[in-house]
Amino acid sequence: MNTTNDTARQTPVTAPDIQARKGAEDKICCITAYDYPSALIADSAGVDIILVGDSLAMVVLGHEDTLSVTVDEMVHHTLAASRGVSRALLVADMPFMSYCTVERALENAGRLMAQGRARAVKLEGGVSAAPQIRALTKAGIPVMGHVGLTPQHIARFGGFKAQGKSAEAARALIDDAQAVEEAGAFSVVLEAMPVECAQLITEAVDIPTIGIGAGTVTDGQVLVYHDVLGLFDRFVPKFVRRYAELGEASRQALAQYCDDVRRGRFPGDKNTLYMPDDQVAQVRRIKVKKKK
Ligand code: KIV
Repeated sequence: MNTTNDTARQTPVTAPDIQARKGAEDKICCITAYDYPSALIADSAGVDIILVGDSLAMVVLGHEDTLSVTVDEMVHHTLAASRGVSRALLVADMPFMSYCTVERALENAGRLMAQGRARAVKLEGGVSAAPQIRALTKAGIPVMGHVGLTPQHIARFGGFKAQGKSAEAARALIDDAQAVEEAGAFSVVLEAMPVECAQLITEAVDIPTIGIGAGTVTDGQVLVYHDVLGLFDRFVPKFVRRYAELGEASRQALAQYCDDVRRGRFPGDKNTLYMPDDQVAQVRRIKVKKKK
């Protein structure tokens, strides 16, 4: 297991480092994080990429979908996460409509890098997003692509639905991934598609594919922090594996805290400050009068 004690792994990971891991046996490990404590935990656990995903709209801000998170909110959360990262590559998601033109893409990605301290951005879309990816890459901003189920397009898809389920749909996704690569992206997320489709895409591009709901054939995996740790219950996609039940553990801990407070069991002796002995006698002589 990779931990902070593994000093050889403390050199910051860069976008070219990730790109160079295409086809490597050692798969790329990516997780989302949205603030200082979650980024610190993820970084010290040894993940390679920390993604400040726009999923924060749902798992942190409580929205129904990812459409309403703003660039200001993404900058705020990316900057907070950056303070917890020392090794992983910090990637910030570009929110819905923040890259609908090349000009807007340049301005908003620039903010995520300069004000949010991201080291790369991610944006959704294939052939249609290629001009933006090309312009950002030319401006020195590393871009991670994202094809398949792109949650910013749920209105068009009719919900959170897996993509690439027919040969024709798989062909279109291969074209998308190749357009993303050709435009200069250093990696591409493949979300919610049959493993056969993910395999074809992974073979069709020379940049690493990072899967979520795309089987084991990709060059790496990404999951949402709150899903992995059992902190988000509204829905749990089939492709999620929960490694802990921190939501339930937190609820139990807080219920215990409330019970202790109500019954006078908290704070205990260990949580209480006492005066030095020589002051106790003096303080007892102080006469306290209530102000009416
Ligand atoms: O926003 C997000 O968390 C993502 C990942 C699921 C890839 O885009």
